[in-house]
Amino acid sequence: MKKFKLLIIVFIFALASTFVYAQSVEEIIKGRKAMFSENYQNGKKISILLKSGKKEDAKPIMKKMSENYKKLLDYFPDNTKEGFKTEALPSIWENKDEFNALMQKASNDMLKLAKAIDTADDLRAIQKELMWSNCSACHNRFRAPH
Ligand code: HEC
Repeated sequence: MKKFKLLIIVFIFALASTFVYAQSVEEIIKGRKAMFSENYQNGKKISILLKSGKKEDAKPIMKKMSENYKKLLDYFPDNTKEGFKTEALPSIWENKDEFNALMQKASNDMLKLAKAIDTADDLRAIQKELMWSNCSACHNRFRAPH
């Protein structure tokens, strides 16, 4: 009887821990999607600000995007390869170093952009080079076509 009680307790703990596990996977996948969406919105904001010559207003948004990319480095643990409508491709985990390097580059480039806009002649070109091109470089290899 004692053994049976122990078994029940172990079972309840196992059940509880899978629940917590599943929930945190959901949080991670939804969390990274939210951060990518935020970066997209902020990227568009930056374009609008730069078009109207508001460079100083654009800089803090660039820093925010850079920080988001850095946080995103921790949002692809091994247990988040599938589920919750993720568009992340398995190639991420097969080429983790390369994926992380692209993420880090995207982060560094946003800080470079914040400096470059002070002196750049062609704001659209520099934005393409240091912001938008990093999106497609990564999506082409690591995000499912949508
Ligand atoms: C280093 C890789 C990388 C970079 C750089 C990157 N992305 Fe992504 N992005 C991804 C991956 C991987 C996903 C899929 C995430 C998922 O569904 O779990 C994604 C998803 C998204 C999504 C969909 C979010 C959702 O709600 O499903 C948007 C929007 C997006 N990215 C926009 C951008 C934009 C805009 C940029 C550039 C300013 C960018 N991304 C840069 C890898 C990247």
